[in-house]
Amino acid sequence: MPRSGPLDAALSAGGLHSRLSDAASGVGVTLRGVRRIYPTGLEAVASLDLTIEAGAFVAFLGPSGCGKSTLLRLIAGLDQPTDGSITFSRAASGASVAFVFQDPHLMPWRRVLENAALPLELAGVGERDRKDRAMAALEEVGLADAAVRYPRELSGGMRMRVSLARALVTRPALLLLDEPFAALDELTRRMLDDQLRALWQKLGMTVLFVTHTLSEASYLAERAIVFSKSPARVVADHTLALPREREHALRSTPAFLAEEQTLYEALVRGEAT
Ligand SMILES: Nc1ncnc2c1ncn2[C@@H]1O[C@H](COP(=O)(O)OP(=O)(O)OP(=O)(O)O)[C@@H](O)[C@H]1O
Ligand SMILES: [Mg+2]
Repeated sequence: MPRSGPLDAALSAGGLHSRLSDAASGVGVTLRGVRRIYPTGLEAVASLDLTIEAGAFVAFLGPSGCGKSTLLRLIAGLDQPTDGSITFSRAASGASVAFVFQDPHLMPWRRVLENAALPLELAGVGERDRKDRAMAALEEVGLADAAVRYPRELSGGMRMRVSLARALVTRPALLLLDEPFAALDELTRRMLDDQLRALWQKLGMTVLFVTHTLSEASYLAERAIVFSKSPARVVADHTLALPREREHALRSTPAFLAEEQTLYEALVRGEAT
């Protein structure tokens, strides 16, 4: 899909454009023998091999404590593997990897616009430019009207959308989300699932999404990887046989329910190993 939104226009005007313009096409990630043993001696990830295609949307599932967050932090470069290597299909600069946590982590004393603009501020982008880009990112998550409000004046779903806008403002090639919508009510979560999927289709970045919810994984992703209990090993690596265009009605179709069941059975196997 051609990129012609307001964020593109804003990026074209700024210094980050050359670094990030092709970032939107997504970056591939390859893990070879990745292992993480914490200083406590706990092995959180055990010799993991994984190849993620550029532009993929992959859901990570697995029991609590199996090592999903550890894995995401390793891929983000926030932590280093004890053994093995993580490589990218092309240079992924710090600015082109974005992380969304379960807690939105907004700065309460900053307005929504200034929160969304933070990564650009850290990258040294001028004030006018970063405000334009942050506004465009807020428009993409449907929050332009809330730009001058403070986080305390927002609902939980709105705060999470600010967090998403802040992640998107740098046009990441790789977007990592760790149970981002877990604390939200079902309606809000489904709305954000739809927005995230639409943004992925529009922007084409690689998305790795950790969730405990089978229906969310099935609805969002093209591929689901189910891990065993700690240390994380791959129990199932499953391509979801569902249409590219997804809407609510899909959730109650036999094809969708069959995919959910497949993932459920893999989770049960992972718990037993
Ligand atoms: N900094 C740390 N130091 C020591 N152990 C850690 C550290 N971070 C995580 N662990 C341990 O590593 C294991 C994996 O933790 P991790 O947070 O990656 O699991 P998870 O799959 O994300 O779980 P959840 O689904 O509950 O979020 C757990 O046993 C946890 O206690
Ligand atoms: Mg976790």
